[in-house]
Amino acid sequence: MKKIALVTGGTSGIGLATVEALHRKGYIVIFTSSKSAAAGEQIASQDRESLRYLTCDVTNKEQIANVKETLVEHYGRLDLLVNNAGYTEVVPHSDFEGATDELWMKIFSTNVMGTWWTSTNFYELLRAQSGAIVNITSIAGLRPMGSSIPYSVSKAALNQMTRLLAASMESVRVNAVAPGLIDTPWTESWDQLRENVRKVAPLRRSGTPEDIAQVVVSVAEASYLTGEVIAVDGGLTLKV
Ligand SMILES: NC(=O)c1ccc[n+]([C@@H]2O[C@H](COP(=O)([O-])OP(=O)(O)OC[C@H]3O[C@@H](n4cnc5c(N)ncnc54)[C@H](OP(=O)(O)O)[C@@H]3O)[C@@H](O)[C@H]2O)c1
Repeated sequence: MKKIALVTGGTSGIGLATVEALHRKGYIVIFTSSKSAAAGEQIASQDRESLRYLTCDVTNKEQIANVKETLVEHYGRLDLLVNNAGYTEVVPHSDFEGATDELWMKIFSTNVMGTWWTSTNFYELLRAQSGAIVNITSIAGLRPMGSSIPYSVSKAALNQMTRLLAASMESVRVNAVAPGLIDTPWTESWDQLRENVRKVAPLRRSGTPEDIAQVVVSVAEASYLTGEVIAVDGGLTLKV
């Protein structure tokens, strides 16, 4: 029987590469986004048997419940949850006024609460399959760096949530993949940073979404791995 995976934020960048990698591995992949329904349907149209797009904003508990209902009704199981959906804005760290309350709330509700709500909602389904959760965090949660202070703090929170859930969820492996700088629409205009990474990181390049998806699939299938945060950054954190 084919395994069932759910990927949040699966219409672009790291999420899309993860959807494609899991699909190649033989999973049935349900993937979501909050706005990009047309892109989602276009991706799903490549293989309607094994790819299914659902609109679900991870900050909306009702929409999360709807996804669960669809999963139970159509597939009756869940083997893997990839919490990839995330939000940020670029705010220099010394611009304290730029890190508004609204920005803190938006970043925290998407990155932290979104992951909490999906993980806890799908726990029983995952537990029934001895399944796995993979959280996409960031090296910004490991070092005092990143696009804004709220973003960096949210990813540090997610790294810790990964360990806490791993310790508390029975029979479900919970791990995080913490990317360095990855070339996605999110980082399209970050040329200066890309140049710095080329100079500093031992692997002398920024990453591709496929570099991350490859590790997500390995971590998802690593049968005795839980509670780990794995930096995938071309060695950048060895140098900064
Ligand atoms: N790119 C990097 O250098 C980098 C580095 C470290 C970590 N990350 C992490 O990797 C993840 C993906 O980033 P990316 O670079 O691949 O970004 P991206 O290309 O902009 O893709 C983001 C995806 O998330 C979806 N999304 C955004 N808000 C959502 C919400 N509230 N509910 C559901 N889906 C939502 C987007 O679709 P909609 O807009 O339609 O919702 C899109 O599918 C994020 O968690 C990010 O923090 C990225």
